[in-house]
Amino acid sequence: MKIIAFEVRDDEKEYFKKYESQYQCEITCVPYALTQDNLSIVNGYDGVSILGRCCITADVEDRLKELGVKCCVTRTVGYNHIDVNHAHEIDLKIANSNYPPTGVADYTVMLILMSLRHYKQAMWRGNVNDYSLNGLQGRELHELTVGVIGTGKIGQCVIKNLSGFGCKILAYDMYQNDIVKKYAEYTDLDTIISSCDVISLHTPLLESTYHLIDKEKITNMKDGVILVNCARGELMDIDSLIEGIELKKIGALALDVIEGEDGIYHEDKRSDIISNQKMAYLRQFPNVIMTQHMAFYTDIAVESMVKCSVEAVHDFIKKGTCETSI
Ligand code: COI
Repeated sequence: MKIIAFEVRDDEKEYFKKYESQYQCEITCVPYALTQDNLSIVNGYDGVSILGRCCITADVEDRLKELGVKCCVTRTVGYNHIDVNHAHEIDLKIANSNYPPTGVADYTVMLILMSLRHYKQAMWRGNVNDYSLNGLQGRELHELTVGVIGTGKIGQCVIKNLSGFGCKILAYDMYQNDIVKKYAEYTDLDTIISSCDVISLHTPLLESTYHLIDKEKITNMKDGVILVNCARGELMDIDSLIEGIELKKIGALALDVIEGEDGIYHEDKRSDIISNQKMAYLRQFPNVIMTQHMAFYTDIAVESMVKCSVEAVHDFIKKGTCETSI
């Protein structure tokens, strides 16, 4: 069985070696993303392993199928970069990966605390030996209401983490979960929007969740609200975020993901011209923390992402299905 893995970082290579021998397959790792231009390289492979930069459109899927590929597995949890419906139509098998939600959940709490305690400004000051306190007075989590939108695995884990801080937790999801009810109160989206001091997003990016946070929602939020996004950039309308910060409606923003990050995050762009003006503008505010889509990035998660993708191709070929099949 032959697998070709795209967008492979150096830190993933040892795991591809490990699972190549465990699943007795032959794996070729390449650092670049699969695109229309380099598609012919997949000829002769049974399965393709990708990350988030490969955009698997209907056209790409048709070509994969023509070239004899049987399955395409993303090493990510989110799969908004794959046209799943078309893949089903042409019987190209698709799977995603999973990894423990704890890494992203811990990171989310870190961003909340950094925002509450003005850590970005404190760090800036420290760098120039300014040890003043003026303007750095924070707020304590146990006095606040935190809203968690999306109570899948990561949202649930964020809620459990937060329960240790003694804050009031409100949750919103189309599907309610009994474990969440132990720590949080489910409510409707409008109530989360209007009554929370901190709002954190943990939903997948779907047509229905695109720009979930827009101008109208921000207008209806509490003054000084803290918004956190470790899910997908396109859940928040970047123009409305900028306006919310400029009008001082938003007290702080902590974004591990941002609309238009594709082609920028996970690359060394030091010598390049960054084309996303809005992203560059937003980054310079003292109350905006932005990181490079790295909340997932832990040793445990990386190994699991690689393992899942190799296992999924193996199971698709040997058993016709796999645990993470979509
Ligand atoms: C995911 O697993 O969905 C992530 O966001 C991780 C990233 C490598 C795209």
